[in-house]
Amino acid sequence: MTDYADLIERRFGDSGPSGESVADNEFIRRVIARKTVRRYSDTVPDEALLDLLVAAALSTSAKSDFQQASILRVSDGAKRAAIGALFPAMPWIGVAPVFFVFLGDARRLQRVGELRGKPVRNGTLEGFFNASVDAALAMQTMILCAESAGLGVCPISVVRNEIGKVAAILNLPDLVFPVAGLCLGYPQGDGYVSLRLPRRATTHRDSYDDSALSDAIDDYDRRRDARHAIPKDQQRANKEFGEAAFYGWSEDKARQAAKAEGAAFPPYLRSHGFIFD
Ligand SMILES: Cc1cc2nc3c(=O)[nH]c(=O)nc-3n(C[C@H](O)[C@H](O)[C@H](O)COP(=O)(O)O)c2cc1C
Repeated sequence: MTDYADLIERRFGDSGPSGESVADNEFIRRVIARKTVRRYSDTVPDEALLDLLVAAALSTSAKSDFQQASILRVSDGAKRAAIGALFPAMPWIGVAPVFFVFLGDARRLQRVGELRGKPVRNGTLEGFFNASVDAALAMQTMILCAESAGLGVCPISVVRNEIGKVAAILNLPDLVFPVAGLCLGYPQGDGYVSLRLPRRATTHRDSYDDSALSDAIDDYDRRRDARHAIPKDQQRANKEFGEAAFYGWSEDKARQAAKAEGAAFPPYLRSHGFIFD
């Protein structure tokens, strides 16, 4: 067994490459073993640590050096409660010791253009996409750094489902939008490493080929079910789709995706500066 083999087996269980002969690297091991945490102890992380995590997040690479991520920390109790109350099915949003919102910020570059007398139209699809990617990368950098400091986190994209209300609470101007919130605190309980799709389904070499997808998904469903079966009472939308005899990851995700979320997001963006041309 290499340093990585057990961790890779736990993450993928796909008999794929196991990091054999690669020098030990604690950071990579930690990333492969990472897990989302939704229950936190009452211990509040030090302010200095949070400042450091923000600095790390903002050190992420940024498209064209435009630096279109902004990070908003929600520390006001009333605002936290108001946001938490919008999502009763996810109580960790209201109670996590720390809550950040990672913002795609297409406004700042447009303002830079104004300050320098150069017209910048940043409500384009390119502006939206670049700002989204910058914010997502900044969030993921904070996630990995926080986890390496012993913290646990949970990204929260559900905030976009109530985008108008969340934007009002946080005073977000036009061209600034949440990519996701991030709950953060010291973990309570162990949680588990979530099995990923087999790498033969998610990696390609030289040309794209998903001809073996169906078999790979069936195999993944069975292996994931053996590790963490989805209980019968957690089957989604049984009224519409019926009770499934075998309810694996693919059935669950197909049902989830068939009921599309986020209907409020496009009209919000279109009425707040984005034209997507
Ligand atoms: C962009 C993004 C948004 C997410 N939004 C939510 C969310 O709103 N609520 C939640 O409980 N988890 C959310 N998650 C966490 C995912 O459900 C989690 O990463 C996934 O189930 C895989 O589990 P793992 O990270 O432990 O491997 C989000 C993750 C990402 C990357």
